[in-house]
Amino acid sequence: MRTQIKKVPQIVELLRNKSVGLQHFKPTSSVCVLEQKDVVEAAQCPHAASRAQSLDAIPGPTNWPLVGSLVELLRKGGLTRQHEALIDYHKKFGKMFRMKLGSFESVHIGAPCLLEALYRKEGNYPQRLEIKPWKAYRDLRNEAYGLLILEGKDWQRVRSAFQQKLMKPTEVVKLDRKINQVLEDFVSRIGKVNVDGKIEDLYFELNKWSFETICLVLYDKRFGLLQEEVNEEAMNFITAVKTMMSTFGMMMVTPVELHKCLNTKTWQDHTSAWDRIFSTAKVYIDKKLKGNAEERADDDLIGDILQNSNLSKKELYAAITELQIGGVETTANGMLWAIFNLSRNPGAQRRLREEIKEAVPADQNPCGEHIKRMPYLKACLKESMRLSPSVPFTSRTLDKDTVLGDYAIPKGTVLMINSHALGSNEEYFEDGKQFKPERWLRETSTINPFAHVPFGIGKRMCIGRRLAELQLQLAMCWLVRDYDIRTASRLHQEMRILYQLFWT
Ligand code: HEM
Repeated sequence: MRTQIKKVPQIVELLRNKSVGLQHFKPTSSVCVLEQKDVVEAAQCPHAASRAQSLDAIPGPTNWPLVGSLVELLRKGGLTRQHEALIDYHKKFGKMFRMKLGSFESVHIGAPCLLEALYRKEGNYPQRLEIKPWKAYRDLRNEAYGLLILEGKDWQRVRSAFQQKLMKPTEVVKLDRKINQVLEDFVSRIGKVNVDGKIEDLYFELNKWSFETICLVLYDKRFGLLQEEVNEEAMNFITAVKTMMSTFGMMMVTPVELHKCLNTKTWQDHTSAWDRIFSTAKVYIDKKLKGNAEERADDDLIGDILQNSNLSKKELYAAITELQIGGVETTANGMLWAIFNLSRNPGAQRRLREEIKEAVPADQNPCGEHIKRMPYLKACLKESMRLSPSVPFTSRTLDKDTVLGDYAIPKGTVLMINSHALGSNEEYFEDGKQFKPERWLRETSTINPFAHVPFGIGKRMCIGRRLAELQLQLAMCWLVRDYDIRTASRLHQEMRILYQLFWT
């Protein structure tokens, strides 16, 4: 899972308006998900077929021999702007289209009713597209797979070990103390590194913030990434994660077996990066495994899972490492775009600041309990993730023949769930280009829950969702309370989202 957005930091200006201090924290359960009631209310699909046609009948861009639609996609701006091409294709071909890139064929879905149909037909072990380079490394070193790459019953077993704690609001909210610990350092660092209110590389700062937070949650360890002098161990760890992420994309589009066989530089860098990630992660997981169960703090969710699950040590190493990988750039990107969207919408920022002032007493810091009373904050985050999602699409590999809309789609077909295209479709979001948090607050909201799926859908939805939401909501509280966020350039009107790699 790798996405990256460029050029925002330079045009965001943060002006400090008051100082902060750390107070006490209470739990909350205020994070929202797609609930069963929403599913029942979702509109009936007008595309449901009485007589399904075959896969071949699905429209799509021209499929040239060997390259498929790759050249056309490159002409439209390449993989970094693939999400824009997907929006265009949906406009041209409708709710569902079929596309081949080289030998890789997929069916794209961009309508809530189709997503609902998929959700209802989901089996016990939904599958995403394989991340082959990761599997190749694990097989080479005889390491286990984590949630991002597991399949079938093994996936379900590992998922259930983490599900209870990580997807339950009353559990996740206990993490607000740890999240705030890092946020206090982050806000203080922002205060120091800005030059006349401008942050040189806000995206890097946000990556360090999300990395530090997820490490504290998973390993109970502060890496000191937000200090002035970052220690060598922390730098090695974060560099290894960066290298691993920047080398796997190439092996997603060219055969990993070939890289392995030729021992290419990409393969070497990838494996040595994973070696460093695993060796560091193992040290801290081992420390936690040795910890005394009786001394465990209330917010030690991971300690609880480590001690009480039936997973092997190897499985725990892989699962925790992948949670870490899954939680860094996605959250940093989400925050970057929330900051950017608020900076472009001073009215929304003012209203949010008012809400924060009302909900959080002046002598306290924002905590999970306060967030319960902050509907506008949640609406701002939702709206930001709709307009600029960190992950533009996810995928499913069908494990059985499935009828979707007008088509009978065979087992094995890869479906791309285009969450970015859904969020920017005027049919589902009126005035969709505008940042309008109010749309989420209307008493009689007509928004189809399947039109907003930034964390995916169903049993395989993002397991870090609640943690990410709490982290982002608290960070927005801390920042908006203490800073005016302004765009420092008129260029913001022309800002474009660029995705560095695609989510599989
Ligand atoms: C704003 C932040 C985040 C976004 C937008 C995001 C988005 C996503 C998406 C779209 C998926 C695919 C879901 C599907 O296929 O239906 C996913 C899966 C996953 N995410 Fe996240 N994520 C975020 C934060 C996190 C965090 C903080 C963690 C770790 C605690 C995490 C760990 C994972 C894992 C392990 C999976 C695979 C789950 C499985 O297959 O069982 N994510 N995420």
